Amino acid sequence: MEIYGTETHRIIHGDALLAMKELPDNSVDLIFADPPYNIGKNFNGHKDRWATEEAYLTWCYEWLDLCVKKLTPNGTFYVMTATQFMPFFDIYLRKKLDVLSRIIWYYDSSGVQARNYYGSMYEPILFCVKDRDNYTFNTSEILVEAKTGAKRKLIDYRKAVPTIYNSEKVPGNVWEFARVRYRMNEYENHPTQKPIALLERIIKASSNVGDLVMDPFSGTFTTCFVAKELGRSSIGIELQDEYVKIGLRRLQLAKEFKGEKLEKEIRTFEMEKMASVGNYKLFEEPNGTYIHGEH
Ligand SMILES: C[S@@+](CC[C@H](N)C(=O)[O-])C[C@H]1O[C@@H](n2cnc3c(N)ncnc32)[C@H](O)[C@@H]1O
Repeated sequence: MEIYGTETHRIIHGDALLAMKELPDNSVDLIFADPPYNIGKNFNGHKDRWATEEAYLTWCYEWLDLCVKKLTPNGTFYVMTATQFMPFFDIYLRKKLDVLSRIIWYYDSSGVQARNYYGSMYEPILFCVKDRDNYTFNTSEILVEAKTGAKRKLIDYRKAVPTIYNSEKVPGNVWEFARVRYRMNEYENHPTQKPIALLERIIKASSNVGDLVMDPFSGTFTTCFVAKELGRSSIGIELQDEYVKIGLRRLQLAKEFKGEKLEKEIRTFEMEKMASVGNYKLFEEPNGTYIHGEH
């Protein structure tokens, strides 16, 4: 296990369970956990598939317990997994935390276009707190447009003094955010990168400036990146060195990793753009990669 970064933004390269065991209990204000879903994704050559569903859940229960332990007494926990496993998480966590919302992150495109069944257009997120009478929820930071009454300039006559409907409201539990696409600025080379906008809502709502935010399965370190942008501290844990490199670069914690310069991968359309500008000519290699050469 190796640790990089600063006191304020720590990146732990290693196993989430081992790393969390080393952290003090009751010390993290907000945890966002987006683990492997046991659906066969390829994380840098490491297949996200357990021998049985039971084996996956047993592993999950171990790190779920650790997350609960590491949360401060007024801490908040958001956790994701595949739709088929979320009911097990829900039942398990209900005995340890208060589940306040069951959120649906909805997007208008499925990765695989299903033909013979209904394609998956959402991922579930459980929103839990340790103490339902004392937790952070910054309503004013996450208000969204209220599309109904206010838009139509309706007046609420049920009130003692008739009032115009509010133009803003706290979001409901169906959240629509676009998935991260190849052409988006925030795109990194990872199969299940979560959008910045999703983490912005979570971190703004459920933590304050200076709080400690932790992500035990950091991937592209979206959580830690947003935490830094919003003035929180962060701990990110990740097993794969390719993704640790993304985190170090995204959080501007290092320019090099083991002698390798940390630079964002150039995407094919960026190469085409560079080529058309004229300073560079791109030569396609027989294996489909491109090399640069000056005129
Ligand atoms: C669903 S992805 C997280 C994506 C992330 N939320 C993002 O926005 O990029 C899960 C990540 O957990 C990592 N991982 C798998 N097993 C792990 C373990 N035991 N400890 C730490 N990280 C692990 C995988 O390499 C993968 O990057």
